[in-house]
Amino acid sequence: MARKDVITVESSEAASSHQTSNSALDRVIERRKFLKGVGMAGAALTAGGLLKLDLAAQTSSSTLTKGDSAILRFLAAAEIIETDLWQQYAELGGTQDNELPGLTGGNAIYTAALKQLDGDMDQYIHDNTEDELSHELFINAYLTAHGADPVNLDKFRTLPSSKATGAQQIGRLTNLMQLTVDTSWWTRYRSRTGNPDLGDSFKQAIPSLAVGRHPAIPRTDRDLASVDFTQAIANTAGFHFAFIEQGGSSLYPQLAQRVSNVEVLRILLSIGGVEITHFQTWHDKAGNAPAVNATDPVTGVKVEFPNLNASPFGGEDFQTNLIMPEPTAFLSHGFPAVSIIRPTETQGAAMNAVKGLTADGLFLGQSQEFFAFISNLALEADAAQREL
Ligand SMILES: [Fe+2]
Ligand SMILES: [Fe+2]
Repeated sequence: MARKDVITVESSEAASSHQTSNSALDRVIERRKFLKGVGMAGAALTAGGLLKLDLAAQTSSSTLTKGDSAILRFLAAAEIIETDLWQQYAELGGTQDNELPGLTGGNAIYTAALKQLDGDMDQYIHDNTEDELSHELFINAYLTAHGADPVNLDKFRTLPSSKATGAQQIGRLTNLMQLTVDTSWWTRYRSRTGNPDLGDSFKQAIPSLAVGRHPAIPRTDRDLASVDFTQAIANTAGFHFAFIEQGGSSLYPQLAQRVSNVEVLRILLSIGGVEITHFQTWHDKAGNAPAVNATDPVTGVKVEFPNLNASPFGGEDFQTNLIMPEPTAFLSHGFPAVSIIRPTETQGAAMNAVKGLTADGLFLGQSQEFFAFISNLALEADAAQREL
């Protein structure tokens, strides 16, 4: 049998006799056990899958460079964080099925408000969650298969869950109930001249979301008593979805520039492309957020979702159907404008991602130990250099 054939063997017989002695991989599997149900997580780590991983490790011509390992470890952490936040959205507002763990029936009122942005919002939320979980599991499994340590953030799952109907009562890594959402991605992707990599800054689409603290999921069922506040929570989520995924759309090309191994580059390009499909989807849906003014009944914080197509908004910077990246300056103002992901500057990219998520309020309540851990991963990833 040719080696190629050996690698693709996936019979249950062979798999059942396979014994993995890799304790690091065991830890990854153990980490998934807190999530109920089998579904996708179980399918991703079948015995056949383990066999392939082990063979991949045996046939690998080289171990990862220190830099590639650091970049993948930071991305694994980012994907674990993404999974954690998307899981919360999926429990409350996603399609309820057995493909994801921990779904208990959802929250009908919140889901209905999300569907004001698109009738398929629940399916898209579900699928985005499934994608993040697959990214997390794949990157950690790849690290393990190449002798590097996977990333485990379980000890930081200390933040409370929403008490609203639909949410599991488990510890979380991320806080979706006190967000300050930077909505400047909206105008950044509409600008025909500006590029953050060239020092430009961009106006907020929803100025009141970029200050104060706003829930993107209901904290309790009482949050859903007011139709307007319920819509404001769903709209906040809609803009937050795109904020998260535009970050991933930049992070992968930023870090790819310092990867050494071509296969690792392939991983970053392949997963990064999916982050862009997510962003494009959410960019489109955010533009459908109904105009609404609401006051948080608990904190008194006000939020206003304006009609982005009407004065003082409107025009090329705000028009809601301009969802494809406008051509803009890239590398130098001397080149013709080009439609691109932005930013893509690689220097300091990982730490900037941590800073962006922290400013978003996503980690409110997290321990100093968590910030130290995640910052260290970011610093190591940012120290990675391309080795030729
Ligand atoms: Fe992801
Ligand atoms: Fe993502």
